[in-house]
Amino acid sequence: MQIHSTIAGLRGTLKTAGRVALVPTMGNLHDGHIALMDQARNHGDSVVATIFVNRLQFRPGEDFEKYPRTFEADCARLAAAGVDHLFAPDEAEMYPQPQGYHIDPPAEQANILDGEFRPGHFRGMATVVMKLFQIAQPQVALFGKKDYQQLMIIRNMVRDLNLPIEIVGGETIRAADGLALSSRNGYLTEAERREAPRLFELLTKVVVELRSGNRDLPLLERDAMDLLKANNWLPDYVAVRKKIDLQLPAAHESGLVVLAAARLGSTRLIDNLEV
Ligand code: PAF
Repeated sequence: MQIHSTIAGLRGTLKTAGRVALVPTMGNLHDGHIALMDQARNHGDSVVATIFVNRLQFRPGEDFEKYPRTFEADCARLAAAGVDHLFAPDEAEMYPQPQGYHIDPPAEQANILDGEFRPGHFRGMATVVMKLFQIAQPQVALFGKKDYQQLMIIRNMVRDLNLPIEIVGGETIRAADGLALSSRNGYLTEAERREAPRLFELLTKVVVELRSGNRDLPLLERDAMDLLKANNWLPDYVAVRKKIDLQLPAAHESGLVVLAAARLGSTRLIDNLEV
């Protein structure tokens, strides 16, 4: 695996790389990331992973400083997974001057659900993803479905801006007890880690209810939030939305997804399940 820290170095190499499949990450890689790398192999001649903890998508007071940086271990995992190139720039390479131009996703996509609780997050995310697209010029890019709203925003950005990039979503990879793999799971204490699968259990219950014809969405959402609160979580939302645009579904509409975000101790977890 070749490691590049500069845009010029990466671009030079990729001239002869054929069809590029890009997998952007912030590092601290787990099996979910590696599954995306494996999937990327089927979509391109060269798999390019990126590791960059993007300050722009963190709000003041969030975990930018403490976000786990495990570069050596990440490199070993990527090499073992057969990744061809790793682009791992520092901040000066990505933001040599303060970023003046931004990608501003429409409010109805970026200010709902996670965007309501993390104002500006999707603007920072979309801006760095657009920069990574310009830098690596991939034909295909892969993102996990665990960040469902992120995936929707990237798909819409690519469509609205006519970027010649195919966007592929990877299934969420879970621990044996159902907890969705996430770099932030490492923040959980042992007791919190035992409690954490409750989020997936609740989503599963809501999906079962929906599949059996229960369409009282406000009640389903409220019951799930109450159950989280009763178990010492601080839920931001549990929401049943349309898969396509994450807007509220009409009565009896199909193609749904249940999404949730909740804080357990000092760790904020997100998860979702398609119905
Ligand atoms: O999902 C992530 O890890 C990040 O949001 C991404 C897409 C790498 C952009 O920084």
